Amino acid sequence: MKRFGICALFFLAFGVAGYAVFAYGFLPLGSLVHPDMKVSFAAHKVGIYAHIFASVVAITLGPFQFIAGLRQRFVRVHRWMGRAYLGIGVLVGGCAGLYMATFAFGGLVSKLGFSLLAVLWLYTGLRAFLAIRRRDLIAHRRWMVRNFSLTLAAVTLRILLPISGIAGIPFELAYPAIAWLCWVPNLLVAELFFNRALPFLTGRPSAAAATRTGR
Ligand code: HEM
Repeated sequence: MKRFGICALFFLAFGVAGYAVFAYGFLPLGSLVHPDMKVSFAAHKVGIYAHIFASVVAITLGPFQFIAGLRQRFVRVHRWMGRAYLGIGVLVGGCAGLYMATFAFGGLVSKLGFSLLAVLWLYTGLRAFLAIRRRDLIAHRRWMVRNFSLTLAAVTLRILLPISGIAGIPFELAYPAIAWLCWVPNLLVAELFFNRALPFLTGRPSAAAATRTGR
C-alpha cells in the first residue's frame, strides 16, 4: 500500500513536471492554456517562466524526500535536495507564483485562492526550514508534509480541470473554484491523515509529543 502510494506520487509529480517542461520549454508561451491566460503570460514572461521552472524543481525533488530509506542512507543528499527544494522550488516558485496570482484568470476569487496558496507555500517552507535549523525533526517532518501537500496543488489542479471539462462546467466558472479546490483538500488530508492519524496508527510517539507542544 505504501509502495503503491509512493509510485503514484512519483507518477503524478513527474507527469506534471513533464507537462510543464514540455509546454513551456518547447512550445510557444501559453500554447496549451486559455487565450486570456496566454495574453497574461506574454505580459509577465519573467514571472511565469520563473514560477514554472522553479516549481518544477520542487515537484521533482519533493517525492524523493519522503522515502525513508533514501533519507536514512544518504543524509547529505537529502540535505542538498532539501536546500534546492526550499531555496529554488518553494522560495523562487512561491514568490513568482504570488506575483502571477495577482493576474490570475477568473477574477478576485482565483486571485485570492492562488495568493493564499502561495503565501502558505512560502510560510510552511519557512517553518520547515526553521524547524530543521534547530534540529527539531518532528516539527520539520510535519511542516514538510504540509508544504509538499501544497506543492501537489499543481497535480490536483490538473486532475480537476479535465474533470470539470467532462462535467460540462464552463472554464470561467470552474477555474476560480479550482483555484481553491486544488489545495484546500490537500492540506486537510496532509493534516488529518499524514500528520495526525498516520503517526498515531503506526504507534510512533512523535505525533502525540508534537501535538502536545502545539506544532
Ligand atoms: C504551490 C504553489 C503554487 C502557486 C501559488 C501557483 C500559482 C500559479 C499561478 C497564479 C499561475 C497562473 C495562472 C493564471 O494566470 O490564471 C500558475 C501557472 C502555472 N503553474 Fe503554478 N502555482 C503553484 C505551484 C506550481 C507547481 C508546483 C508547479 C509545477 C510545475 C506549477 C506549474 C504551473 C504551470 C505549468 C503553470 C502555467 C499554466 C498551465 O500551463 O497549466 N505551479 N501557477
